[in-house]
Amino acid sequence: MTDDLDDWALATRAIRVGHHRTGEGEHSEPIFPTSSFVFGSAAEAAARFSGEQPGNIYARFTNPTVRAFEERLASMEGGESCVGTASGMAAILATCLGLLKAGDHLVSSRSVFGTTSVLFSKYLAKFGVETTVVALSDLSAWESAIRPETRLLFLETPSNPLTEIVDIPRLAELAHDRGCLLAVDNCFCTPVLQRPLELGADLVIHSATKYLDGQGRCLGGAVVGDAKLVGEEVFGVIRTAGPSMSPFNAWVFLKGLETLSLRMQAHCANALAIAEWLEEHPAVRRVHFPGLVSHPQHEIARCQQRGPGGIASFEVTGGREAAWKVIDSTRMVSITANLGDAKTTVTHPATTTHGRLSPEDKERAGITEGLIRIAVGLEDARDIRADLERGLDGL
Ligand SMILES: Cc1ncc(COP(=O)(O)O)c(C=O)c1O
Repeated sequence: MTDDLDDWALATRAIRVGHHRTGEGEHSEPIFPTSSFVFGSAAEAAARFSGEQPGNIYARFTNPTVRAFEERLASMEGGESCVGTASGMAAILATCLGLLKAGDHLVSSRSVFGTTSVLFSKYLAKFGVETTVVALSDLSAWESAIRPETRLLFLETPSNPLTEIVDIPRLAELAHDRGCLLAVDNCFCTPVLQRPLELGADLVIHSATKYLDGQGRCLGGAVVGDAKLVGEEVFGVIRTAGPSMSPFNAWVFLKGLETLSLRMQAHCANALAIAEWLEEHPAVRRVHFPGLVSHPQHEIARCQQRGPGGIASFEVTGGREAAWKVIDSTRMVSITANLGDAKTTVTHPATTTHGRLSPEDKERAGITEGLIRIAVGLEDARDIRADLERGLDGL
């Protein structure tokens, strides 16, 4: 089966890679809910622990269901190695703990998930890793922020919630010229729409909680990259510190990956329909969506992404009061922080996902009080539109 792997298209890999059928002949991937694995003898146990013999030891290190998920996602992202983690934040933390040390410097996009910013500014700082934040799409700002001790550049593209985009190949070239690694949080696009490793990045980070699951059931994350950085350094943190992926969650993600290609196409089509409609609405000041020609990096998105994604944000006239009115007038759309679900979700970033940022940081990041983020789901676009229209028409 694996002989064909290199020739398979992404949709096929998403369904077929990673399942090594057991003697039972099961068609669907099995779940291995076990915390440890049994050895045939004391000598075999010793050989496994010393690393002389490959194989499972303890589920904090490896588990066959998690391994199946890791193999499948690695193949889809085009990476040598993948490590599953307990959440997307655990993936970012493990990457930093594995690849950075006290005295190292990190350059991060200003437009990353709010909790990621807090991880860098509050917690990594305690261990002597300093972070400089820059505007995502400003390549000269990245260049000026890099110092001799800079080890890692970190970003999300498209960003959350403003869907800003950076030219990954150009930033990767800059990173490598200056001896840095480039990590891309690929949560919004998934490998169906964007493969950062092919574009020159060194590491791909995922919150599997989002589109990889696709139905809002489980927390999980992953890091993909080469065998040394990910298979040794990041994996070393997971097996030692313990934010490992549960086998049940890995199984849910395996099932999610099987439909990822189809779902992403449907999310893109629905989001484009909603974004185009919002752009024409008189109560909407601005729509942020890479699929719109008005998006400042629309052309870059067309080159490096295979679709615009399912997330849009829009600013209503009337600040927080108006934004909350639109949100509170919905009857179907869910008011919840998650995204990447079949169910459309809506949030007010300034008071939820980005609520912990200082007013100055919010302003710098463009998180205004009138901004609403919508993660467009798979319901009929006409029903999503009718649900948003109720509040918007009343403004
Ligand atoms: C872009 C992005 N990265 C990472 C995370 C963190 O993922 P998790 O909630 O699985 O820890 C999130 C969560 O919303 C996110 O939106």
